[in-house]
Amino acid sequence: MARLKNHGQTKTLALLIVAAGLVVVLAGLFSCLNRATAGNQDSEGAKKAFAEAAEVLFHPRCLNCHPSGDAPLIRDDSQTHMFNVKRGPEGKGAGAMNCSLCHGETNKPGGAPGVANWHMPPENMPMVFQGLTPGQLCRQLKDPKQNGGRTGEQVIDHIDKDTLVLWGWNPGEGRTTPKMSHKEFSAKMHEWIAKGGACPE
Ligand code: HEC
Ligand code: HEC
Repeated sequence: MARLKNHGQTKTLALLIVAAGLVVVLAGLFSCLNRATAGNQDSEGAKKAFAEAAEVLFHPRCLNCHPSGDAPLIRDDSQTHMFNVKRGPEGKGAGAMNCSLCHGETNKPGGAPGVANWHMPPENMPMVFQGLTPGQLCRQLKDPKQNGGRTGEQVIDHIDKDTLVLWGWNPGEGRTTPKMSHKEFSAKMHEWIAKGGACPE
């Protein structure tokens, strides 16, 4: 009888030790997970990164192809493009006024700037930046219905590699460029997504 009771106590003790071990392991896991999600959802950090990057998005080199109307804009004061140029269904011009008539694959000194496939966003997805607040632009960039069906990562990929975006830092003589380098801009956009992609109000 005594032996059996003893055996019972040993079993209980063993179970207790296993349970305590489990609690320690789970607590460790939980705090790890907690830290990981906290890293992913630094919403103040994300908002700050986007607000700083927005300085580039609203720069005339970018804004001029992302106007609220149907005509592209020119120069630092974002005047309406001359020659009555219009967006057209595919963003490549309306009627005979095709962008490629004047815009080639390189910047023409004193003339039309250019890189391959120069055009603006199409009528059915105009990707307007002009007149938006940083918060509104942030939400638009995250909305697949307004950004060409992209995820946050794909938007960033576009920003990293698209030749039209890169042109903003090589716009041809006489045109200003954003204060921040493309590398810094790209780093801020990556930071925005890595910290959870929260938007300024
Ligand atoms: C010559 C016109 C032109 C210029 C200049 C231009 N863009 Fe764009 N941008 C476009 C077009 C066209 C699209 C749509 C491309 C597509 O869907 O593949 C676009 C799309 C975008 C998008 C949306 C991508 C998405 O996934 O939602 C972002 C962000 C963007 N441009 C940023 C910029 C920035 C930043 C600059 C300046 C450094 C810039 N653009 C300059 C024509 C331009
Ligand atoms: C008939 C010729 C012509 C056509 C067609 C044309 N452009 Fe232009 N574009 C120019 C010239 C020239 C400039 C340079 C103007 C300047 O800097 O004073 C220019 C400048 C621009 C700029 C200004 C860049 C900046 O940031 O200052 C944008 C944006 C632009 N064009 C977009 C377009 C788009 C998009 C199309 C087609 C929908 C188009 N253009 C069609 C001749 C043309």
